[in-house]
Amino acid sequence: MTDKKLSTESYKGVRDFYPDDMAVQRYMFEVWRMTAEQFGFQEYDASVLEPADLYRNKTSTEIVNEQTYTFTDRGNREVTLRPEMTPTVARMVAGRRRELSFPVRWYSIPNLFRYERMQRGRLREHWQLNCDIFGIDDVSADIEIILLANEIFKNFGAENGAQYKIHVSSRRLLEALYSSLDLVAETRLAATRLADKKNKMEYTEFKQQMSAVAGESTSIILSFLNADNIDVVPEQIKDTPAYTELKTLINTTNEIGCPVFFDPTIIRGFDYYTGVVFEVVDLHPDNNRALLGGGRYDNLTELFGGEPIPGIGFGFGDVTLRDFLISHDLMTTNITSPTLSILPTEPAHNIAAEKIAQSFREAGISTSIDLSNKKVGKKISQASEQFITYVLILGEDEIKTKQYKLKDLSEETETSGTLNELIAKITQ
Ligand code: HAM
Repeated sequence: MTDKKLSTESYKGVRDFYPDDMAVQRYMFEVWRMTAEQFGFQEYDASVLEPADLYRNKTSTEIVNEQTYTFTDRGNREVTLRPEMTPTVARMVAGRRRELSFPVRWYSIPNLFRYERMQRGRLREHWQLNCDIFGIDDVSADIEIILLANEIFKNFGAENGAQYKIHVSSRRLLEALYSSLDLVAETRLAATRLADKKNKMEYTEFKQQMSAVAGESTSIILSFLNADNIDVVPEQIKDTPAYTELKTLINTTNEIGCPVFFDPTIIRGFDYYTGVVFEVVDLHPDNNRALLGGGRYDNLTELFGGEPIPGIGFGFGDVTLRDFLISHDLMTTNITSPTLSILPTEPAHNIAAEKIAQSFREAGISTSIDLSNKKVGKKISQASEQFITYVLILGEDEIKTKQYKLKDLSEETETSGTLNELIAKITQ
């Protein structure tokens, strides 16, 4: 009888991170963290497991019905692997509403799970930088969050308008349009869901479906959705606060040197958005997925009782970012390597090498040992390929005399001395 061998593949749609992938991931997370902290954001985290109910009311129906990993635990509770972080952060903020001093600026880099059809830019597990501001019901917070998104791209070496573009719209403005047309709640919901699909279908088909939903209001809705500039939206919404707010956002960010474009087809699939919504699009033709998406959600904390706390934020995915950086030739990785490697000339010296390595590590020098039985020449060339700066060759003589030779591989120089002298040389 032969045992069936286990597959070396990971579970479908999730990823293994071999050291090369991990280096890329670390680089991306470092830039994310550094930029968020430059803007005064503080890091938080939570469990990947949440009660399934958290997602039932205000998330996207597509995500809840078709894309969550939900199961019943041994205590009969329905549990979901988080598909996004916004309900979690709203829960955490609502839970400490009395202790927190608002505004709160928080960021996190959670891994999220969505049972999606896999394609370029879409996997079943991804990591997502989430930056959110709670407690400010004013367009200044919307501006700050968009400037933060833009700064992250700058810190990756990307240029707004050349490699990516920021598109904005407003759910509140869309609601103002619906109110001016006296549309009832179900029509609003159906029109919004359809508008979200506008760019994914034939225009004639879209028009037909919209007129089935919106009847005589169709032409005004279409003139809004086809506006390529905020100045040409239907007149009846130009004196609303939502219009003034969006215009202020567009003008201010443009003045600050962060161009953003009005795009009424930015709807965002989540039901919790109530105000400004935005996406960052990749201008490379191979990458047709949004890199980042976000918006204002002023009522989400209501789910947990008490007065709602306004929130605005975005999610920025690692899969689309990686594609973006590679496609635009912006990827740099920091593969970590030790400063020093000790190269025993034969396996009999490996134990001595372990002891010597420890003295270097205690002095704060990261140190590896090549324990293989390769020839010294080969060990040196491998150390050089791994970007290790120094090597110490350990043979019979060095062990006896306690005088060692340190080679600097980047400068191609050599120094001799005792352990303490060499430690001083590296740390000088
Ligand atoms: P989202 O648009 O669903 O928003 O996701 C934000 C970003 O996460 C996307 O633009 C994309 O880069 C990435 N992403 C989403 N799904 C996948 C996937 N299956 N595979 C790879 N990458 C993916 C949200 O999740 C909101 N909760 C963001 C937010 C935070 N809004 C306010 N605060």
